[in-house]
Amino acid sequence: MKIIQITDTHLSSLKPHFRENWRPLVEWVDSMAPDLVVHTGDLTVDGADFEEDLVHGREMLRGLRYPTLCVPGNHDVGDMPGTRQPVDAGRLARWRRIIGPDRWVHNLGEWRLIGLNSLIIGSGLSEEDEQLAWLESTLRTREGRRVLVFKHKPLFVEDPEEGETGYWGLRPEPRRRLLALFAEHGVELVASGHLHRARIVDGAPFRCVWGPSSGFTVGPMVTMPVGEVLLGAAVHILGSTVESRIVPLGALKPFVIDDVLQEVYPPAPTEASLS
Ligand SMILES: [Fe+2]
Ligand SMILES: [Fe+2]
Repeated sequence: MKIIQITDTHLSSLKPHFRENWRPLVEWVDSMAPDLVVHTGDLTVDGADFEEDLVHGREMLRGLRYPTLCVPGNHDVGDMPGTRQPVDAGRLARWRRIIGPDRWVHNLGEWRLIGLNSLIIGSGLSEEDEQLAWLESTLRTREGRRVLVFKHKPLFVEDPEEGETGYWGLRPEPRRRLLALFAEHGVELVASGHLHRARIVDGAPFRCVWGPSSGFTVGPMVTMPVGEVLLGAAVHILGSTVESRIVPLGALKPFVIDDVLQEVYPPAPTEASLS
């Protein structure tokens, strides 16, 4: 069983700065003949505010020849309460209407794949409690299936015991709850995007994979102490173990957000809206 993870494509018909990288990505995905493609969010430049971006993203996803699942990113549905684009009922409803569910479960043979909406984790919204209850039930009823989890934000940035990381990772308390829940149910892989860095961390007690963006990298304007700066995708081969690898894609143009920030995400934002 082969799963291709793509992420952080930041597609838009209104701001097509990174669109050139979509076609070579699709060609590579097709050449890999995966059983499934999972997009781990930031499908769009600004689906949080522009319906056109979500519609465009949906059309791009439909161009993939293989079954595709997608979880939302902060640029698709907004971020924590108190941020410039807080996740809310309207933004979630728009994602669900145009793209599909913001959380999902799919069984593939002996595997159970779970997609989570990471933008509501730690938000205090009723949606967060509903998703957690659903997640507990989905893990409890897995009937021996092996579990993989996909979501946009990583569980942690540097290590599982770290404190508040603001924009980049999950808040400590919901992180601890998820870590315990995933360990209890033997989750084997948690794959995420958001950081525009590539990294594989084993022993957390499960593997965590940061898929690299296929849209752009983030340059010196943001200091990120860990992770590789590259454009590409991740491959997860499901067998007696899960083999994960990061695949740099040389056919992708090396766009760097620093160069076009004022056009793509104006006005000049703080570090907190770049990824
Ligand atoms: Fe993101
Ligand atoms: Fe992103």
